[in-house]
Amino acid sequence: MKDIKLGIVGLGRLGSIHAENILNKINGGKLIAACSLNNNELIQIKNRINRIKCYNDFNEMINTCQLDGVIIVSSSDQHCKHSTIALKKGLHVFCEKPLGTNLNECLKIRKLVNSQKDLIFMLGFMRRYDPSYIYLKKKVDEGLIGTPILFRGYSVDPESLISNSIKYAKNSGGQFLDMAIHDIDLSRWILKSEPKTIYSLGGCFAHPEFYKYNDGDNVASLMQFNNGCMAFFLAGRTASHGYNVETEIIGTKATIKISSAPQKSTVQILDNKEISKECFQSFQERFKQAFINEIQEFIDCIIQSRKPEVRVEDGLNATLIAQKATESFRKNKLIRFSKYY
Ligand SMILES: NC(=O)c1ccc[n+]([C@@H]2O[C@H](COP(=O)([O-])OP(=O)(O)OC[C@H]3O[C@@H](n4cnc5c(N)ncnc54)[C@H](O)[C@@H]3O)[C@@H](O)[C@H]2O)c1
Repeated sequence: MKDIKLGIVGLGRLGSIHAENILNKINGGKLIAACSLNNNELIQIKNRINRIKCYNDFNEMINTCQLDGVIIVSSSDQHCKHSTIALKKGLHVFCEKPLGTNLNECLKIRKLVNSQKDLIFMLGFMRRYDPSYIYLKKKVDEGLIGTPILFRGYSVDPESLISNSIKYAKNSGGQFLDMAIHDIDLSRWILKSEPKTIYSLGGCFAHPEFYKYNDGDNVASLMQFNNGCMAFFLAGRTASHGYNVETEIIGTKATIKISSAPQKSTVQILDNKEISKECFQSFQERFKQAFINEIQEFIDCIIQSRKPEVRVEDGLNATLIAQKATESFRKNKLIRFSKYY
């Protein structure tokens, strides 16, 4: 079987990782083209993959290269545009989260995806491909915790990366769409239900720069799902200790948790002051294996002509919920959901 020929758009923080993984870790896929607005990134990829074709324009890449599929890792506000062009050209698409920053654009993508039944369309909700989350979901599905009472998710970037967060704020769609979307997806995936009400809070506790985007540096939502389960999310940018992602689900029979501290390993350091453990400092470190697994799943789906578990509707509903969360935060009011897709 010939390798699946891939092009990638976006070679920034995450695009460069996907490109490196395709080069070294993924079976059955070959990166033959790359597109970025940043010429330095193109020079770097050319140094890594000698024969790769490089572009500044996505349309040109799509129309010049004989591709089977594309990996979309451009800024979030470009996802729908790039997905549309690729799907219309008949290419398989892996698109990073979120599906898009505008709900109408997401609805159009859903229509397009559902009209192209032979094409694989997959979203980068990578926590679904992390071994710990896969195991947690299996345990919940087996009934270990009984009836879920509360889903609690913390997703906080390290304060040391705050300049990046401020730089990305303009195109990210805000904290709910950019950061809390992971917990939104996890809760829908694990609880197999949709929220019926949401109330969001937050503020600029350390960085007033986020006011400009009508956003906060730390935001939170409280929800109740249709199955009765409560959910609480915190999405922030100011963890002093590192990249802090943790999940806890309290049930009638048991509680299940992932990483109550963002510890890197079981190593302890004992010195003359304290006993300490090192923290993960970035999403790249914490979800290293999940980023490999999700692209491998995309390639395997293409080769085996099967659909990935994560559907375009998951992206659409996650964007809808993130938008309602943002609206609740901005208007300081409880919002009831009336419709899902
Ligand atoms: N799954 C995760 O945990 C995770 C983590 C980080 C980023 N992401 C997502 O990945 C995407 C990229 O994030 P990042 O942090 O790598 O951003 P980044 O700013 O570091 O990189 C963005 C890249 O997109 C390219 N780009 C932007 N607009 C373009 C256009 N019109 N045509 C061609 N290239 C274009 C830029 O040149 C750059 O290479 C975002 O949508 C983000 O939400 C997901």
